[in-house]
Amino acid sequence: MTDNIAQATSIIASKIGDFTPDIGMILGSGLASLVDDVTDAIKISYDDLPGFPSHGAGAVTGHGTNLIVGILGGQKVAILEGRKHYYEDGNPSAMRAPIEVLKAIGVSKMVVTNSAGSMDEKVLPANIMLINDHINYSGLNPLIGQAGDERFVDMSNAYDPELRKIMQGVAADNGIPLSEGVYVWYSGPSFETPAEIKMLRILGGDAVGMSTVPEVILCRYLGLDVVGLSCLTNMAAGMSDTKLSHNQTKQVAAIGAEKIKTLLKSFLLKL
Ligand code: HPA
Repeated sequence: MTDNIAQATSIIASKIGDFTPDIGMILGSGLASLVDDVTDAIKISYDDLPGFPSHGAGAVTGHGTNLIVGILGGQKVAILEGRKHYYEDGNPSAMRAPIEVLKAIGVSKMVVTNSAGSMDEKVLPANIMLINDHINYSGLNPLIGQAGDERFVDMSNAYDPELRKIMQGVAADNGIPLSEGVYVWYSGPSFETPAEIKMLRILGGDAVGMSTVPEVILCRYLGLDVVGLSCLTNMAAGMSDTKLSHNQTKQVAAIGAEKIKTLLKSFLLKL
C-alpha cells in the first residue's frame, strides 16, 4: 500500500469508524445528484484525501469532488461524486488511488456511470445503456509500468454477467428501457469527428465516451466486480444535427440521472 492510500484509508476510517461499505460507485458528468438519496451520509472532500483528484485547473464542471459514505437501497455504499479523466492531465491512472482506497475500506463491487454519445441509431438521447463490454480505443492502459504477473488481467467478463442480469431485471421491473452494448473509450477532450464515429460503429461500438475504461481495468486488477451504466446524452458526431457541447451533455444527463437513480436503488435492494 502506498503512503497516499494508507493515509487516505486511515482518514476515512477516523470518520466512518467500523462502517464497512460494500458497494463503490463512480458518478459521471451531470450525475452527482445521485448522492441526494444517500442516508446517514458522511461527506469527505477529495481535498482532504491524499491521492484523490483535486479541484485543479483541469477539473471538469458537472462533477462533484466528495467521497460520500452512507446507505443507499439498503446497502452500505461509498460514492465517488466525480472522477478525473485522462484528458485532464494525460494520466490514465488518475483514478487509481480512489479505487484502491475504496477497496481498502471494504468495497467489493463497483458501479461505474458515465455520460456518453449513442452510436446506436435505435437508442436515443436520455436513454440508459448497460455496458456489456468495452473497446479501449485509446491504446492507453493504467497498468503500464505495473510490476508482477497480476498486471495481465483477464478482461473477458469485465462487466459482471450476474450483476448485469440483476440490472436488466430491475430495469424491466421499473419499466425503464435498458439497452446493452459496447462502450468505446476515446481520449477526449474534443468530441469525435463524424468519420471517427463511422469507424467506431464498424468496429462494434454502441456508445462512445471519455472515461470509465481505465477505471474498469483498475477495478478488475484489484478484483472488484463491475457493473457499468452509460447515460446517453446525445447521438454521436454525425448522427444528428444537434451541436455537441459539454453544456448539452450536462443538461441531458440530468434527465438520465433520474432513471439511473431509480435503477441503482432497485439494483442495490436486490443484492
Ligand atoms: N463523445 C464522447 N464523450 C461523450 C459524448 C460523445 O458524444 N457525449 C457525452 N460524453
